[in-house]
Parts: sequence; C-alpha cells; structure tokens
Amino acid sequence: MSTTSAWVNPLRNAKDKRLPRIAGPSGMVIFGVTGDLARKKLLPAIYDLANRGLLPAGFTLVGYGRRDWDKQAFCDYVREAAEAGARTTFNEHVWEHLAKGIEFVQGNFDNEGFDKLSARLAELNASRGTGGNWAYYLSVPPEFFSDICHQLERVGMADSTDNSWRRVIIEKPFGHDQNSARQLNEIVNAVFPESSVFRIDHYLGKETVQNILALRFANQIFEPMWNAHYIDHVQITMAEDIGLGGRAGYYDGIGAARDVIQNHLLQLLALVAMEEPSSFDPEALQAEKIKVLRATNAVHPLNKTTARGQYSAGWQGSEYVKGLREEEGFDPESTTETYAACTLEVNSRRWAGVPFYLRTGKRLGRRVTEIALVFKTAPHQPFDQGQADSLGQNAVVIRVQPDEGVTMRFGSKVPGSTMEVRDVNMDFAYAEAFTEESPEAYERLILDALLDESSLFPTNEEVELSWSILDPIIEYWSNIGQPEQYRAGTWGPESADRMLRRRGHSWRRP
Ligand code: BG6
Repeated sequence: MSTTSAWVNPLRNAKDKRLPRIAGPSGMVIFGVTGDLARKKLLPAIYDLANRGLLPAGFTLVGYGRRDWDKQAFCDYVREAAEAGARTTFNEHVWEHLAKGIEFVQGNFDNEGFDKLSARLAELNASRGTGGNWAYYLSVPPEFFSDICHQLERVGMADSTDNSWRRVIIEKPFGHDQNSARQLNEIVNAVFPESSVFRIDHYLGKETVQNILALRFANQIFEPMWNAHYIDHVQITMAEDIGLGGRAGYYDGIGAARDVIQNHLLQLLALVAMEEPSSFDPEALQAEKIKVLRATNAVHPLNKTTARGQYSAGWQGSEYVKGLREEEGFDPESTTETYAACTLEVNSRRWAGVPFYLRTGKRLGRRVTEIALVFKTAPHQPFDQGQADSLGQNAVVIRVQPDEGVTMRFGSKVPGSTMEVRDVNMDFAYAEAFTEESPEAYERLILDALLDESSLFPTNEEVELSWSILDPIIEYWSNIGQPEQYRAGTWGPESADRMLRRRGHSWRRP
C-alpha cells in the first residue's frame, strides 16, 4: 500500500466488504475550483459523499483561487453546485454540517498565496481535526502542475509523514504524447511519490466498468470463450450526441483520440483483454493492465485501419446544430478531429488475430458507450438454405451507459411450423436487477483517494504506454491534412465504415 498514516480506518480491512467504507480524518484542497469540472462534478460528488455519511465528521474543503471570495461566497457557490448536480436529495442538515468545514483561500500560484494557504491549513488541522491529512485536487491545466507541486513542496505541505498523509489527485490531459506525459510524470513524481499520486480516469469509477471484472472473473460461462478461438473481433464505442460549444479552449488542437481513446477507451480495452489478476489489489490489477497495454499496438497500414472526422452542421434529433468550425472559439480552419476510430491488436496467445476496433465521436446519432465482443460464426450450420440466413454473429455486449447492463445476442427459432432462426437479445439491466443506485464515478474515485485505495487509478506507466499506442496514429493524421466531414446526428465519417468493411465487419448501430 502507499502512504503511511497513523489513523487506520477500521472498516477498510473489514471482513464484511458490504460495510460502507468511510474516509478517515482529512480534508481536500481544490485548485481550479471555479472551473467546469469542479462545479459540475467535484463539488456535487463531495456533497453526495457527505450526504451518504462517507466523509469524516471534520471533513474540510478548501477552495483555492484568484477570485475575491470570502468563506460565505464560496459556500454559496458550493451549495449552488451541489443543489444543481448532486445525485442525492439535498438535505439542509447535512449541508449545514458540511458548510462548517468549507473555506476559501485567495491566491495565485506564487509564494505569497501558498504561504497563506499553508498557514490556513495549519489552523484547520487544529480546529477541524483533519490530522494533517490533505488531498490536493489539481483541477487545472497541466501547465500549472509544476508550480503547484513545487509550491506545496516549498511550504512543506507535500510530504507524508508517519502521522499524516498528503496526496495529489490529477486530471487528464496527462500530456499530449508519450514524451510530454513522461515529463509531466517526472514533474509530479519529483514532489509526490507514485503511491501518493491519484490520476483520475473517471471511466474507471463507473459501476459498469468495474463490472467487467465481475462479469469475467466471478463467472464460469464467459472466460472459456473469451479468446481468439471464439471471438471474431471486439468493438469499443463511446458515442456522444453533444457538440463542443463552450469547450474550444480545451478541445481545439486536442481532438477525440487524445481526449478519449488515450485514456477511457484504452482502459476499457485493458480490462477486457487482460488476464485474471491474482487479486484486486492495486499492484496486481495494474500489473495485468500494463501487460496488455505493452502487448497492444495499432494495426497498419494506418490509412486503412484508422479513421477520423469532424462534424458539420446537421440535425441532432429535432434540433439543427452548428458544425465544429462554426462553434464559438474554434478556428474556422481547425483540423481537430471530433471523431476518431482505430484498429488495434493485442499480441498475446489469447488475442492473436482478433481486431479491437475503438471509436469515439461527438454529435453522433446518440449517446452510448458499450463494449461488444462479437463471436465467430458456428463452424457448421445444420440448416437448410433460407432457414438461418438472417442469423448474425453472437455477441456479448457490455452496456456501459446510458442503459447500464449486459446483452447477449444469439440465434433462436422463430415460433411456427417451419425452422427459421433469427437473432434475439437476452438482457440484464442494472435498473431492473438492483434497487441500489450506482454512485457517480467522481464520488467513488474521490472516496477511494481519501481511503488510499488506488486500484481504480491508472499509474504513470499505464499512461505512458497508452500514449505509445496512440502516438503513431496521431502522427500519421497530422501529416494528411483535414479530417473528413460528417453530418451532426449521423454515425461518423464514411471512412470509418470502410475501415471495418475491408475486414468483412461492420459497426454496430447501438
Ligand atoms: C471526458 C471528455 O473525459 O469524458 C469529454 O473530456 C467527454 O469530452 C466526457 O464528453 C464523457 O464522459 P461521460 O461520463 O459523460 O461519458
């Protein structure tokens, strides 16, 4: 395990894993607290954790930023964010308790600001009983990581000691290629040991993504077929119907591959393709993911095995929406892709010859994330001509969102006096099978970081390996000019369909 701490959560190693895991004495400082992520995700998640009773009594939330805010102004901001974004019903009593531990410190990333922050945290350690345990959430662009880490180090707030822990939580983008990711990791690791660094990939906080491990390793029926003998190909799709209005500052020049494939989709691939870990301890799980990522690379030639596109104006349902180049803040000549697809291979005995198709895009037909394992056809079909003509390939589909669950597709006899076989679906839906509601991904991840549970956080090595898979594709695209246009509301550029047709496959229309 990682950092040392005198306080040991009695529930952490409890035999009964159903007991709620409650964070020990601690606080969190959020840098970039006025940004979108903090307002929409982090602050509501912290409120939800408080409302579920999973934060310690003296939990302290410190916002740090340039705004001329006092405690009350920041409290109002947090309350508004919580009321707008929390999953749980707003409860005045919980709020009043949480609000007592909400503080704002005004400052830049300079000595003066951090001296003030350090003095304030010292007071709070005494008045709130945080035990000196602080998680620093860097919800800021990576160019500020260096200043923040060095300032924290300078004022002596970065080191964990025998009695208290200090952790840093960082958000993507973790660089824009392998080299820059390595540099970023060096900057952060020069101040915080890897065991104190928690990199957020919010997909790993999703219930359905964690269920990949349960599905594969708690059951007997799937694993024997989970290999190249039975599986023809794998499709990993993350489709969004939203456009990029308002996000030009972050997205222009980044594009869909860096934004989503490098992190979320490659993590999904790793969980689907990895071998069984010896346990779900962070080291064991991460070691298996690393093995898969090391064995993964793009299939060549890239002009046939990848596709990229940019949405143009079109009908998104009943709304006529702008194309990317007309969106505010985007360069009208922008070459940033809003759709990216690639073909990868995992060079292992289990997966030899099985293409993994990954695709993601904005302004597509609908919002859906799924992983489909498409099976080979049965080696022999004892049917007469016409009887099984409309039978497709069997599939296991893990529906990550929005309609969380698992679908199995197989052939079944159509009722009647003749033999006719057709595809049917067998569904498991979370919403029907369980009464418990899934926590929001950020809730789960923030709680895990406070508890020092790092299984759901990618390591620096995973991040760098993911870039090494993607770098050649991005490099190739950077030399071929404009991305292909696709109409908003469709399923992406024609080249993405061609990419699969060449191998006799087609994208699912989820
Ligand atoms: C983020 C990307 O990581 O994930 C966004 O930066 C994307 O571009 C978002 O919209 C999607 O997350 P979710 O949880 O809504 O699928």
